[in-house]
Amino acid sequence: MDPTSTSTSNDKSLFAGRTVVLGVSGGIAAYKACEVARLLLRAGADVHVMMTNAATQFVQPLTFQALTGNPVGTSLLDGSSPVAMAHTELGLKADLVIVAPTTADTLARFAQGRGDDILATTLLVTHCPVLLCPAMNTNMWNNAAVQENLDTVARQERFTIMEPGSGELACGVIGPGRLPEPEDIIEYAHTLLRPQDLKGQRVVITGGPTREYIDPVRFISNPATGSLAIELARCAAFRGANVELILGPTHLQPPLNVKVTNIVTAEEMHEAVMKAAKDANIVCMSAAVADWTPQETKAQKEHKSGVEKSLQLSRTTDILAELCSSPQKPALVLGFAAETHESDKELTEAGKDKLFRKGCDLLFVNQVFRTEKGFGPGASQGLLLSVDGKEVTVGPASKADIADSLIEAVAVHYNQRTARAS
Ligand code: CTP
Repeated sequence: MDPTSTSTSNDKSLFAGRTVVLGVSGGIAAYKACEVARLLLRAGADVHVMMTNAATQFVQPLTFQALTGNPVGTSLLDGSSPVAMAHTELGLKADLVIVAPTTADTLARFAQGRGDDILATTLLVTHCPVLLCPAMNTNMWNNAAVQENLDTVARQERFTIMEPGSGELACGVIGPGRLPEPEDIIEYAHTLLRPQDLKGQRVVITGGPTREYIDPVRFISNPATGSLAIELARCAAFRGANVELILGPTHLQPPLNVKVTNIVTAEEMHEAVMKAAKDANIVCMSAAVADWTPQETKAQKEHKSGVEKSLQLSRTTDILAELCSSPQKPALVLGFAAETHESDKELTEAGKDKLFRKGCDLLFVNQVFRTEKGFGPGASQGLLLSVDGKEVTVGPASKADIADSLIEAVAVHYNQRTARAS
């Protein structure tokens, strides 16, 4: 995984108190399931591994037992195994089942509803979400029977299929069929445990800085990194939203399962937001949009001797204010305010003023006079103001936790509004 990713897989509380059944079937990628088990444990899960017979040819059950501290289920008919005796109970107790890797044969058995081993039987019993992570040779993956089995399984609502990655497979073939990286499996799996209170809603999120070019090598910008927007996008997608992230220049990696529209200037951000907002239910404007842009961008680099002492600037469009006053204003708009007031009273007053001036429904105001409180990936803190007069302190917490709280508040406000309107 890219080191710049703001992945949540290291979060110790991500799966706290959750029982996860990790099914392992017999393919070369079975060794990666050890890392999946380790990451689940590190994220606080109680992990119970069930292996197909073929999987035990690739990895010893003892490895998983040592990693998880729980006995490993390998056989349905072993009267001496505590897992064999308790597998139906475990299936009912599980909050989540992950099958990584899911081979073509195991998939076929799930599609047929077979109960011929401990893993297949557990899947017949359980009511919880099931994440299948297929991994196989590219030709097998493309085979019509395999694709039909995937369709059959995907028709059951509790099953989610994680697309395999593409690349060079163990057999030397290049194409789809690789087991995704363990961190990505954990992150995807975690989404299945969130309340799906934004399911099917279209959420547009802006983030990062904009750049206003003076000439091809110089621009006006600010220290925003887009880290909060990336976390907001991730959290909205976790809750089932269909997310578009409109992102200014950043070195951070956006999440896999959101649509990303990259922009550079405030004017590009303006165009992208107005276009995306047309069919959006919710817009969250966390981008640090430049308020000023040079009246002229020189086509060639300005050499020191030629540079004038003053720069002629013009105002950029206030995108948030324009969106909120337009007929296409989405049902809920969350604005952001970066302020440098030191006293809480002044901060709140500035936030309230901006909330009403911009016309948004919610506004998160934070203090950026110390960089770690506002810009960049560090901890943050702020106040969430709503147009109906509520004020809630959010943080101090990591950007991921701040984003989680903000998206939860957005989901609550949005669902209340739409319920009232219907
Ligand atoms: N914003 C915007 N378009 C701009 C500037 C800001 O849409 N040209 C949005 C930001 O994305 C944010 C909110 O407006 O959601 C507040 O941004 P902030 O920089 O705090 O305020 P400004 O509009 O710049 O107002 P002021 O300069 O008075 O603080």
